[in-house]
Amino acid sequence: MKGKIWVVGVGPGSPEYFTQKARKAIKGSDILIGYDLCLNAARDLIHDKTIIEMTWSNRDETLDYIKKEMTSGKNCSILRSGDPNFSGSSGIEDIYDRFPDAEIIPGISSVQVAAAKSKLSWDKIVLLTFHVTEDLENKKQSLLDSVRRREIVLLLSESRFMPKDVAKFLLSGGVDEKMPTTVYENLTLKNERIFHGNLKELAGKDFTYLSVVIIGK
Ligand SMILES: C[S@@+](CC[C@H](N)C(=O)[O-])C[C@H]1O[C@@H](n2cnc3c(N)ncnc32)[C@H](O)[C@@H]1O
Repeated sequence: MKGKIWVVGVGPGSPEYFTQKARKAIKGSDILIGYDLCLNAARDLIHDKTIIEMTWSNRDETLDYIKKEMTSGKNCSILRSGDPNFSGSSGIEDIYDRFPDAEIIPGISSVQVAAAKSKLSWDKIVLLTFHVTEDLENKKQSLLDSVRRREIVLLLSESRFMPKDVAKFLLSGGVDEKMPTTVYENLTLKNERIFHGNLKELAGKDFTYLSVVIIGK
């Protein structure tokens, strides 16, 4: 293939969290592909590029298209939110299979920003993502087990398991309603929202799927 391809972590949303490496890859690309959140994070850099908004339904045809464009010498960047190697809802492995020469540019994960705000050491917490294709039951059970062991859990919520569902699930598992809980929604974006409270309060609150939940601190 003549063109180059990068898989670029664009951080949690604000361009302030872009790395120099990410900027360089995007500047060197003719075509940028990504979900709307990622394209928006790169908005200052995309004016002279071909932009393809990836959706669930056009994912395969988009990846086929860029392969074709690369054979004619076009450089492409696939933009991924946060760090590309953490919790990609649509998976990353098939992209690596299709483009074995892709260079992966690490990004700042939403998890890092949440951990920084809560002053949490990564090595002392349990990290869980609910962005998985399989059934959520096993994940939920590990969550409950960790909380019962009084471990601090940082989790990425998902549309099937929103922050209020997390609270209701833990309460139904007998966890103390006063258990400290934090939600970081839309981190680094203009509409960032932070909730500090307990499980009982969280059970009555609505947040979008773009939320990181911390239980136990
Ligand atoms: C498909 S996963 C991608 C995670 C990404 N690779 C990362 O490293 O942050 C999407 C989930 O990440 C979390 N997330 C990503 N960006 C976020 C943000 N700006 N604010 C809060 N949560 C965010 C949310 O839990 C969201 O449901």
